[in-house]
Amino acid sequence: MVTAHTDSAHSTPLRTVVVPAAGLGTRFLPATKTVPKELLPVVDTPGIELVAEEAAEAGAQRLAVITAPAKDGILAHFGDFTELRDHLVTKGKTAEAAKVARAVEIITVQGVVQEEPLGLGHAVSLAEGALDDNEEIFAVMLPDDLVLPIGVTSQMIRVQEQFGGTVLCAMDVPLEEVSKYGVFDIADIPGQPGVKQVLGMVEKPSQEKAPSTFVATGRYVFDRHIFDALRRTTPGKGGEIQLTDAIDLLIREGHPVHILVHEGQRHDLGNPGGYIIACMELGMEHPVYGASIREAVTRAAAALAPATLASVQPLTSSS
Ligand code: G1P
Repeated sequence: MVTAHTDSAHSTPLRTVVVPAAGLGTRFLPATKTVPKELLPVVDTPGIELVAEEAAEAGAQRLAVITAPAKDGILAHFGDFTELRDHLVTKGKTAEAAKVARAVEIITVQGVVQEEPLGLGHAVSLAEGALDDNEEIFAVMLPDDLVLPIGVTSQMIRVQEQFGGTVLCAMDVPLEEVSKYGVFDIADIPGQPGVKQVLGMVEKPSQEKAPSTFVATGRYVFDRHIFDALRRTTPGKGGEIQLTDAIDLLIREGHPVHILVHEGQRHDLGNPGGYIIACMELGMEHPVYGASIREAVTRAAAALAPATLASVQPLTSSS
């Protein structure tokens, strides 16, 4: 369903991917009263397992999942499920048994509880205790962002090997969308069209104050300096400790920060609008359900009046 870049064979120093997953999922109520939004299926696979696949592809062995006290269902997804697997095998359902086993086979999951929702920056700061002393870099993947094709974090690590410091994934979005994101002030690097130097970063600015239309899209590679910056970061936008503000502090103190411009797709799984589009687009590629979903989408498109179709803007991002 999700295809990996074929050039991803590499040896990386990346061992841990941090996944902030402590949010309350308010945009998905009432579903998220009992089901963490990270467990909602994209076609048939929970978003958190797609992130685990992506982390493993980037060479990571450990997923440090930052959860809220009431969200331990996320960690339960990475349990052994021995009885269920045995039962499925006994019934001859080996493909289904393999699906159950997949999550725990690809990566080791470690939970870190964020007792209070103090912001993305605070959540990432809690990961420091999960890293081994000799881990020089780590990645952060926001599970709301599905960045396709899988492989962007591997590319970011190669940029980090070249420039050091922090590397973030960026997309160029329409100006009307900048206020939903962390936005970069950037400078071109001669001979490197896909990589830019970051001169500053601001969280969710108005269109007038946005330094560019290049925005953070949920994939970050950090060295350990980020923890020191986070310790010195005071509450910002929304009264929360913002990761963006800590990155901006790193820049102001002379640490290298770069973006890798992603030209592929990105889905926002954090709200029903983006989530449904992701399910539809990935569903159309599904080996079993794809044909009937494509047929239904074609039928629905044909049923729209031509005038309605003419007013539909091309999709640039699905948030
Ligand atoms: C977070 C970050 C923001 C980033 C966005 C990407 O915002 O704070 O800088 O651009 O993720 O999805 P959130 O969407 O959690 O409000």
